[in-house]
Amino acid sequence: MLDSGAMDQAVPEYNVFGSHPVEVERTFWYRWIVGHQLSFALWRAMYEVVGHSPDTVPSPPELDLLAACVDAYSAMLIYSSTVPRGHYHSHIRRRMALQHPAISGTWAPDYRPVRRIFRGKLPWQGDPSCEALGKAVARNAATHDYIADHLVPDGPSLLQQSIEAAGVTVSREKEELYDNFFLTVRRPVSRVQFVDQLRARVAGVGTDLARNGLYPNVGGHHHPVVTGQSGGLMMTLVPGALRALDEAIGLVTAQQVQGVGA
Ligand code: HEM
Repeated sequence: MLDSGAMDQAVPEYNVFGSHPVEVERTFWYRWIVGHQLSFALWRAMYEVVGHSPDTVPSPPELDLLAACVDAYSAMLIYSSTVPRGHYHSHIRRRMALQHPAISGTWAPDYRPVRRIFRGKLPWQGDPSCEALGKAVARNAATHDYIADHLVPDGPSLLQQSIEAAGVTVSREKEELYDNFFLTVRRPVSRVQFVDQLRARVAGVGTDLARNGLYPNVGGHHHPVVTGQSGGLMMTLVPGALRALDEAIGLVTAQQVQGVGA
C-alpha cells in the first residue's frame, strides 16, 4: 500500500514527462498489453489470499499484500492509458472491437474471482484492520472511472454500445477471446515461475518508463492522464507506478516463499 512509507531505494526512477518514443505504435501497444497482463497477475495473487477462505479476515501481512496489489493494478490502469486519445481510438480500441464488438473488462477470467473485493462485498471488509485496503479499493474505483472518462469522454464502453446487454453470462468462449487479445496463454506454472513472469514484465515496464517517461512526447506535446489538478487520490501513482509494482511484487514473493515452506 502506498501509505506505508518504507521505500525500496533500488526501484528505478523515471521522468513523468518523457521524450518522443522511437516507435510510437509499438510503445502504446506494449503498454496496453503488458499493463493488462500485469493486472491479471495481480488479481491472481489476490485470489491466492482470499480464494480458499473468502469469509475469514486475512492476516495483517495478507491485508498489506491485497492493498499493494490493488494499488499496483491502479498504477497499471494509468500506465495502459497513457496512449494519446486519438491513437487509442484509431488503433487500440479499433483492434479490440475487431476482436469482438462487445469486448469488456467484465470478460477478464482472473477478475471475476476477486470482483467482490473491488465491490467491498467480502464480509470482513468493514473491519478496522481493512482501512488501508478500503482506501486502495476506493483509489482503484476512482482511477478506473477517471481513465475511462479520459479515453472515452462521455462515451459508452464497447460492451455498452454493442447490442449485448451487460450482465449476460460470460462464456468460456468470451474469456478465450479476451485472453487471446491480451496474448495470454494459460497453463499450470509453479509459484517461482509465476513470480518470474511478474518480475520480467515489471522489468519491461521499468525499461519503457526509463526510456520514454510515463507521459511521452507525441506529436510535439505530452498527453498527461492524471495531473496535479485532477490527480487527487491517484497522484501518488504518477511518479510512483514502479514503486507500487515493486511493493506488490515484494509482498507476493514473500507470501509465495511462505507458501512453499508451509
Ligand atoms: C486500462 C485498462 C482497463 C482495464 C484493465 C479495465 C478493467 C475493467 C474490469 C476488470 C471491468 C469489470 C468491472 C466489474 O465487473 O466490476 C471493467 C468494466 C468496465 N470498464 Fe474498464 N478497464 C479498462 C479501461 C476502460 C476504458 C478505457 C473504458 C472506457 C469506456 C472502460 C469502461 C468500462 C465500463 C463502462 C465497464 C462496465 C462494464 C462494461 O460496460 O464493459 N474501461 N473494466
